[in-house]
Amino acid sequence: MSIKRSSIHGQWSSRWAFILAATGSAVGLGNIWRFPYLVGENGGGAFVLVYLLCVVLVGIPIMMAEIMLGRRGRQSPINTMTSLAEEEGLSPYWKLLGWMGVLAGFIILSYYSVIAGWTLAYIFRTGAGVFVDADAALSKSIFTELISDPEKLLAWHTCFTLMTVIVVSRGVKNGLEQAVKFLMPALFILLLVMVGYAMSTEKFMDGLAYLFVPDLERLAEKNFFSDIFLPALGQAFFSLSIGMGAIMIYGSYLSHKSSISFNCFAIAIADTTVAILAGIAIFPIVFTYGLEPAGGPGLIFISLPIAFGQMPFGTFFGCLFFILLLFAAWTSGISLLEPAVTWLVENKNISRVKASALAGVVTWVLGLVTVLSFNHWAFSFTFAGAVKENGFFDIFDILTSNIMLPLGGLLVAIFAAWMMSRTSTVEELGLGDGAAYRAWRFAVRYIAPFGVIVIFLNAIGLFKLLGFTE
Ligand code: TRP
Repeated sequence: MSIKRSSIHGQWSSRWAFILAATGSAVGLGNIWRFPYLVGENGGGAFVLVYLLCVVLVGIPIMMAEIMLGRRGRQSPINTMTSLAEEEGLSPYWKLLGWMGVLAGFIILSYYSVIAGWTLAYIFRTGAGVFVDADAALSKSIFTELISDPEKLLAWHTCFTLMTVIVVSRGVKNGLEQAVKFLMPALFILLLVMVGYAMSTEKFMDGLAYLFVPDLERLAEKNFFSDIFLPALGQAFFSLSIGMGAIMIYGSYLSHKSSISFNCFAIAIADTTVAILAGIAIFPIVFTYGLEPAGGPGLIFISLPIAFGQMPFGTFFGCLFFILLLFAAWTSGISLLEPAVTWLVENKNISRVKASALAGVVTWVLGLVTVLSFNHWAFSFTFAGAVKENGFFDIFDILTSNIMLPLGGLLVAIFAAWMMSRTSTVEELGLGDGAAYRAWRFAVRYIAPFGVIVIFLNAIGLFKLLGFTE
């Protein structure tokens, strides 16, 4: 049976529109803010290597599966899972996958918006020339001053939430294309400028080595699975925007003629390149100015401004950099809200504007917890061998990236490769039934699910308990 639904929310105007929007979702704070600080916390080169493996072996196959489910279902992730389960004669409980995604989206956006708020604040700080000739101590104190003031954080968080709600309420397909088409390449070029600056610093080679050469001594101190694999897997899901239905809903607006596999590779390559460039730009600065690589979430906000303070036209480049980072965060933020909003429109019969406002209020309120995590409510704990200093913010981040997203991805893989009939997937993926299709099926059937399960079990210490590892 051939199924060709269309989405009540419309379709992308072209294949490029989808690639641009999905790249907009993937490239964001995850690449430029989260990736470098995780690399710094989790041991440099070894983490990067494992991360790349996770992207290729687990991330890309699951991304293809998730887009495929979205395109076949053509509704919000919750309703898509309900319809597909019904069609394939499976349990209606598969829709819980959609619900978990909506919940993960709310939690992620709630703290994402606070960090995007820092970006907003830094547009004005760099633009005002605050960092000209600043040293590490001054840069640190400017950052600390910002995050210890809940009122400031709240104001910027509110701005970003509003920006996100406004775009989602107008329908994500309008305007996004234009924004991404110009701003992403601009961000890319600016990162190259930053890499150019990093090359001129004394410790450029140290930075590169830190990023690309696994340090075996440091590795020996770490528990490979819980300290490196789990955060790397979580980061792969976070950075590619998979595991919560964001890319599923974008897939639901995708035309039947477009090639899912080509699109996925294009998105994953763009996403990974941006993350690696950010790493190359940041670590030489970190070492040259004597900063701590394991500096946590403040890493880019402390290190990059020092560089802007030193380089020619630094005030201009710094301001522009944070503006472009804000746009990257914006195009990601809207994809986090979209699954919940489409569900409200489909099921509660309310307008998109009302649905967006309602969803916006939920994440805004939840964001207050993160606002307070950096000051009044701050407490620290150790996770994956790294000290986490910002209580609930870190808990939200770990809960979503390291647990909910991989679990969502695992369920997507199981559904696509074990539950759906082979004919349905051959038909929907459009790869034919040759080697490419078989490689994909093998990856989603075996590699991705077993990868996630083995990492989970190791991380919770089950294998150790059973005596499999020392
Ligand atoms: N991928 C984005 C980033 O790297 C964040 C993001 C957008 C996301 N949508 C998502 C993460 C869905 C997980 C799931 O900044």
